[in-house]
Amino acid sequence: MEAIRHIDDIRQAVGKLKKQGKTVGFVPTMGALHEGHLSLFRLAQQQADEVIVSIYVNPEQFGPDEDFDEYPRPLEEDLALCKEEGIRAVFVPTNEVMYPEKQFLRIEVDELNDHMDGKSRPGFFEGILLVVNKLFNIVKPDIAVFGQKDIQQFRILQQMVTEFNHDVKLVMGPIKRANDGLALSSRNAYLSEDQRKRAPGLYRSLRYLKQQIVDGATNIGLLLDHQKKELEAKGFEIDYLEVYSFGQVAPSREITPGNKYILGGAVYLGETRLIDNLIVDT
Ligand code: PAJ
Repeated sequence: MEAIRHIDDIRQAVGKLKKQGKTVGFVPTMGALHEGHLSLFRLAQQQADEVIVSIYVNPEQFGPDEDFDEYPRPLEEDLALCKEEGIRAVFVPTNEVMYPEKQFLRIEVDELNDHMDGKSRPGFFEGILLVVNKLFNIVKPDIAVFGQKDIQQFRILQQMVTEFNHDVKLVMGPIKRANDGLALSSRNAYLSEDQRKRAPGLYRSLRYLKQQIVDGATNIGLLLDHQKKELEAKGFEIDYLEVYSFGQVAPSREITPGNKYILGGAVYLGETRLIDNLIVDT
């Protein structure tokens, strides 16, 4: 397995695979790899002949008060995991490689950005679109795999692929969880022992709400308010807990049959922001 720093070299490596008639799968990451990332690698391996991973903590998607500096960067361990998983090449660009000079252009996101993480983290999805657009143009994969964990990211990237005619198929991998239900995340490493014990509370609330909705509950607003209060009583600070339409990522209090919804939550435990979601397919 190769760790490749430069654009020309990764292009050459992918070009060689394509010349051999192989399909190329791609999994972009920011490293600090866990079983969630590895599950995406395996999904990509099922759907493509060879898999390329990128590890790059993209400064453009962090706000000024966010954790860019603290974000874990265990590169040697990450590369060892990629090797174990049979990854063909890992693209590990530096900031100079990705952003050699001032960026004059950006991709704006419209209404899809108005709720969930787009609302709470201004500039977040623009930063993600910038880097993933570049990565797609550099790697030119046949398929790319992203996690349901960041469902709004998936939805917006899907729109980018459609509207900008990227020749890549996006695949969404399910959320990998710890035994107690907590969605795996590189940021879980920030939690204290006590916070870690409490953290699955968000998933429990989402499960309860999904069950109520599936069972035909009508007053969703009341149910959500009640769960927010319960979570607050358990020490969570709520950013959002809401039902959103999958297509528009807009709050929906009416569940109509034949539609797809995101039951999404973002909370703080101390300084750590946790997100999770369930899909409600009616
Ligand atoms: P990162 O947070 O490292 O996540 C990389 C991929 O792993 C994303 O598609 C994310 O949804 C997925 N993932 C994270 N936790 C998961 C879990 N518990 N189960 C399954 N998949 C999980 O998302 C990013 O990086 C960045 O925004 C990126 C797309 C790389 C652009 O910089």
